[in-house]
Amino acid sequence: MVEPVLDIRNLTVVFDTPAGTLHAVNDLSYTLMPGETLGIVGESGSGKSVHVLTMLGLLPCPPARIVSGEVLFRGRDLLALSERELCDIRGAEIGMVFQDPMSSLNPVLTIGRQLREVIQRHAGLDHAQASARAVELLGLVGIPDPAARLAQYPHQLSGGMRQRVMIAIGLACDPTLLIADEATTALDVTVQAQVIDLIRDLKNRLGTTIIWITHDMGVVAELADTIQVMYAGRIMERGPIAPVFHQPRSAYSWSLLRSLPSMARHRRLYQIPGSPPNMIHPPPGDPFAPRNPFATPRCHRDVPPLRQVADSVPGHQVAAWYDLPAAVAAHPEIADA
Ligand SMILES: Nc1ncnc2c1ncn2[C@@H]1O[C@H](COP(=O)(O)OP(=O)(O)OP(=O)(O)O)[C@@H](O)[C@H]1O
Ligand SMILES: [Mg+2]
Repeated sequence: MVEPVLDIRNLTVVFDTPAGTLHAVNDLSYTLMPGETLGIVGESGSGKSVHVLTMLGLLPCPPARIVSGEVLFRGRDLLALSERELCDIRGAEIGMVFQDPMSSLNPVLTIGRQLREVIQRHAGLDHAQASARAVELLGLVGIPDPAARLAQYPHQLSGGMRQRVMIAIGLACDPTLLIADEATTALDVTVQAQVIDLIRDLKNRLGTTIIWITHDMGVVAELADTIQVMYAGRIMERGPIAPVFHQPRSAYSWSLLRSLPSMARHRRLYQIPGSPPNMIHPPPGDPFAPRNPFATPRCHRDVPPLRQVADSVPGHQVAAWYDLPAAVAAHPEIADA
């Protein structure tokens, strides 16, 4: 049997703030299989970044506190490792690309030096071998004339080129898992499209397992095999791209899709009523219930578990007490508003 690359089990993370305990990640569980690309979406504050920072050991504790859970990466619990052991895994077995290359790249070091540092720290190559590998990586991410770039500083590159350098650093040690958090958000649409093509090409050639976090459902549709929709530190829906996009089962995914110009077709764009939940005093039941026009009394009372959708493909899961297709059909005035 194929083992998952990543197996997150019941992860709960809070922040101790002056105003009270903020519930950032709530009993989160999911697995990721080798070669799978997982796209994670969800509005600001849904726990996307906090859960990946937790598993990478990059969360500041305090104010953060890991209440419970395990994060098994190739069978080892990352949460039980020492800082030194985690440091060996970060950048080697797990590559990372975050938003804003200007603050992630060191402005006073050349591109070549920064790439060589990552390569040499993990791969044990000498200077010449590391330089050759750096040129190879810059070529891989589509940077023209890569050998000449090694001597350049970050400010001499365009934003798109810097983001490619960040991706090259993320890929420097042939990671088993690449985690990208808003990696293309700061780029203009043309460059973003190029980076997406690049990642798609890389995953086809290298078989890298990828977690791609974004606000952009379009990017997820292009890149990912599986989509995971998060809200209030929980998974609301998860499954293969096609069934989730064509027949979402969570009112939250439905709302996100209906607020996309390309998906709303001739209908008016849907606006999600209300505001995001207060995570210090979250609502008692389904966290989306106060904003969900299809919510039932039970939604306001009990948190629904994530379960397989009975009449969809295997792996299509939803956390909901209502049956969305039936609810939408029964309330055309909401669906067509
Ligand atoms: N250092 C911190 N101190 C207190 N609360 C924090 C801290 N960092 C994050 N949070 C809270 O944790 C929750 C989850 O935040 P997270 O950064 O994971 O959201 P996100 O889904 O990545 O959002 P975005 O799309 O804006 O990046 C939010 O309520 C946020 O306010
Ligand atoms: Mg984030």
